[in-house]
Amino acid sequence: MLSSYFSCYLVVLALVLALLIHQSNAQLNSTFYATTCPNVSTIVRNAVQQALQSDARIGASLIRLHFHDCFVDGCDASILLDNSATIQSEKDAAPNTNSTRGFDVVDNIKTAVENSCPGVVSCADILALASESSVSLSGGPSWSVLLGRRDSTTANQGGANTSIPSPVEGLSSITSKFSAVGLNITDLVALSGAHTFGRAQCRTFINRLYNFNGTGNPDPTLNTTYLATLQQTCPQGGSGTTLANLDLTTQDSFDNNYFSNLQTNEGLLQSDQELFSTNGSATISIVNSFSSNQNTFFQTFAQSMINMGNISPLTGSSGEIRADCKKVNGS
Ligand code: HEM
Ligand SMILES: *[C@@H]1O[C@H](CO)[C@@H](O)[C@H](O)[C@H]1NC(C)=O
Ligand SMILES: *[C@@H]1O[C@H](CO)[C@@H](O)[C@H](O)[C@H]1NC(C)=O
Ligand SMILES: *[C@@H]1O[C@H](CO)[C@@H](O)[C@H](O)[C@H]1NC(C)=O
Ligand SMILES: *[C@@H]1O[C@H](CO)[C@@H](O)[C@H](O)[C@H]1NC(C)=O
Ligand SMILES: *[C@@H]1O[C@H](CO)[C@@H](O)[C@H](O)[C@H]1NC(C)=O
Ligand SMILES: *[C@@H]1O[C@H](CO)[C@@H](O)[C@H](O)[C@H]1NC(C)=O
Ligand SMILES: *[C@@H]1O[C@H](CO)[C@@H](O)[C@H](O)[C@H]1NC(C)=O
Ligand SMILES: *[C@@H]1O[C@H](CO)[C@@H](O)[C@H](O)[C@H]1NC(C)=O
Repeated sequence: MLSSYFSCYLVVLALVLALLIHQSNAQLNSTFYATTCPNVSTIVRNAVQQALQSDARIGASLIRLHFHDCFVDGCDASILLDNSATIQSEKDAAPNTNSTRGFDVVDNIKTAVENSCPGVVSCADILALASESSVSLSGGPSWSVLLGRRDSTTANQGGANTSIPSPVEGLSSITSKFSAVGLNITDLVALSGAHTFGRAQCRTFINRLYNFNGTGNPDPTLNTTYLATLQQTCPQGGSGTTLANLDLTTQDSFDNNYFSNLQTNEGLLQSDQELFSTNGSATISIVNSFSSNQNTFFQTFAQSMINMGNISPLTGSSGEIRADCKKVNGS
């Protein structure tokens, strides 16, 4: 008698625990807004399409915001918060300052979404949706975006300084930073393929052009014809903010040319070229497979975007749905 009460108690306890664990590990899904904001994907896509009409680069800038958001305490829109009494903005962190852009477009998308479904859609989900729109509108793959993230009430500027990879830190260190958020080298190579569009400032690759790693010579893995072009774009002592295309062949299209560029030693950043030029690296065969088959790249890229979008989201009643992506509610 006593033991059957006891085992009944254990079963109830186990059920309660299972429910709690289930809630704290709530999964994102593609139908999260099916009843509360059924048109959210279309609203975001239309706003991105409109922004692309006046700025061909904006899709690249938007997907980069999602990446820099997800690598710092998960995909929680922490990157969008401005400085305030309680917030030390991630916008001022080393990888972001004078570099990340598109915040005004995020605000426009949020306004369009709020006009249809006030108080429902998180800024973190808007970044994920805008990334998919940016890629598919530029000729890349479409995928079903997983949703249900909530927005942080904090930012982590120190985390942004240390968790987001730098282009000059070396492949093994970058691999560790991806691994720290659960992404493997297939994800690293596929997601680096986002450098198929967008721009980089001279200051992010000038280390390769004149005195690589203290050798007094350019990076030996840099194609000499491309080197000459880049030296003209970025003269020694010139402005570090001059822009170059990350993909020298098709600057605004999302395609697999990034990978053939690596094979001809025409990757722009040190971190790009190292994926192919690091002797013995397991990344080389992945580059080759994406270069030879665009469908393989597109399918893997879509899966890796889902993997990146799943980095520690706030779900359930954690965090909040920000009314203004730049501010914590009530501040
Ligand atoms: C693998 C490590 C990575 C490094 C070291 C890296 C580094 C950089 C750097 C230095 C720039 C140029 C920034 C500037 O000059 O202002 C850049 C631009 C860009 N990055 Fe990455 N990145 C990495 C991975 C990624 C990933 C995973 C994505 C997205 C999935 C991404 C998307 C972009 C895009 C689209 C741009 C162009 C942005 C624009 O034109 O506004 N990057 N990246
Ligand atoms: C999607 O996730 C939400 C929140 O976790 C949940 O309420 C909803 O039932 C899920 N939808 C599906 C189809 O799993
Ligand atoms: C939602 O989309 C459908 C078709 O996609 C459209 O008919 C409807 O007007 C849209 N509703 C809103 C509120 O935008
Ligand atoms: C950012 O750019 C501004 C204007 O060009 C410049 O004054 C400032 O020093 C730059 N900040 C950093 C951290 O590079
Ligand atoms: C992050 O890096 C920036 C730029 O180097 C620096 O100004 C800032 O103090 C750093 N913040 C933290 C919290 O480490
Ligand atoms: C990386 O993870 C994916 C699953 O998301 C898997 O299919 C792939 O084989 C893994 N790559 C490596 C090199 O382990
Ligand atoms: C840079 O130089 C150091 C010391 O000579 C060496 O260990 C390192 O491998 C070099 N890095 C690259 C990318 O060549
Ligand atoms: C340099 O780039 C050109 C143009 O893409 C290419 O034909 C050539 O093979 C490349 N050279 C090397 C050594 O990769
Ligand atoms: C890789 O190996 C090649 C051929 O053995 C050699 O010429 C080159 O210097 C090596 N590259 C690096 C970055 O170590």
